Amino acid sequence: MNARIIGTGSYLPERVMTNYDLEKMVDTSHEWIVTRTGIEERRIVADDQSTSDMATIAAQRAMDMAGVKAEDIDLIVLGTITGDYPWPATACVVQANIGAKNAFAYDVSAACSGFLYALSSANDFLRAGSGKKALVIGAETLSRAVDWTDRNTCVLFGDGAGAVLLEAQDSDSGVLSCHLHSDGNYLELLYQPGFGAKHPPSVEGIEAKLPYLKMQGNEVFKVAVRSLTEVSNEALETNGFTSADVAQFIPHQANLRILEATTKRLKLTDEQSFINVNKYGNTSGATIPIAIDEAFHQGLLKEGDLILSAAFGGGFTWGSTLIRW
Ligand code: ACO
Repeated sequence: MNARIIGTGSYLPERVMTNYDLEKMVDTSHEWIVTRTGIEERRIVADDQSTSDMATIAAQRAMDMAGVKAEDIDLIVLGTITGDYPWPATACVVQANIGAKNAFAYDVSAACSGFLYALSSANDFLRAGSGKKALVIGAETLSRAVDWTDRNTCVLFGDGAGAVLLEAQDSDSGVLSCHLHSDGNYLELLYQPGFGAKHPPSVEGIEAKLPYLKMQGNEVFKVAVRSLTEVSNEALETNGFTSADVAQFIPHQANLRILEATTKRLKLTDEQSFINVNKYGNTSGATIPIAIDEAFHQGLLKEGDLILSAAFGGGFTWGSTLIRW
């Protein structure tokens, strides 16, 4: 049994925030942002939208493409670090919204690797026979977790959601492998200090901006490139392939310089690498399923193609998957 992707969907909020908009908010410039990150614009949720709203639309689109009814879904796994509530899981909100009354639903917290962690988890359930159909979603409202006065971070992120529908099939195609890693020693290079049990809500905490994302970008950059390269090679070597066999590399869209450094080390061509970070910025756990959906609709993913995906994020967490489309 392999888990095959039979449907994809995504949702990006309508509101576009350009680098020129950011120039009016913090001391930055379009040129600085494009040169350092490749990001030209990002999407921001409407005031009345949240993570579950975007996730619900992306999930519904994946179900529509696959022609699968809500009651036939056995599990929903949602990778997010910007869920609607600290608990319960945003996956449960999505379950209620789409009416998947026979599914069990839970969130996975692995930051920018959240979608690959969710995919790996759902893949294991399906291969073990604990269900036939799984919705795997990545959805983030980073705009509500960044400090809009901090130019070091606010220019990097955006909002969005993507989803894939997995089905267990007696097939050689589908998810061939998932490799996951973490190293909690790097926690403070990229994290959101409050408000959890460690730093519960307080006026002092708000003044110290604890509920906002903190990052040491330079350090993250170095470890990200190294880890993305290693974990991509791990996927290829485990399955007996080289980068020349890859039809599309669909990496986590953090920023263009990380992607270019990684694809160069992997000896992948521009034609093999899918990039849309210029349009959406870093949507953390949502970048990969959004990119898969876009790549599919652009005709870049054909039956039998080998798709390599890799992610790196806070924790640190990192991982890869190799998929036979
Ligand atoms: N506009 C203008 N200047 C800025 C901005 C900005 N938005 N942000 C920082 N600067 C300034 C800094 O203050 C610094 O000024 P100084 O020299 O006077 O002190 C200068 O630019 C250089 O800062 P650096 O941090 O050294 O710039 P760097 O070249 O490293 O680029 C960046 C910063 C883009 C964040 C880079 O480190 C990076 O891409 N890191 C990876 C981080 C990342 O992608 N995180 C996402 C989450 S993890 C993931 O998804 C993989």
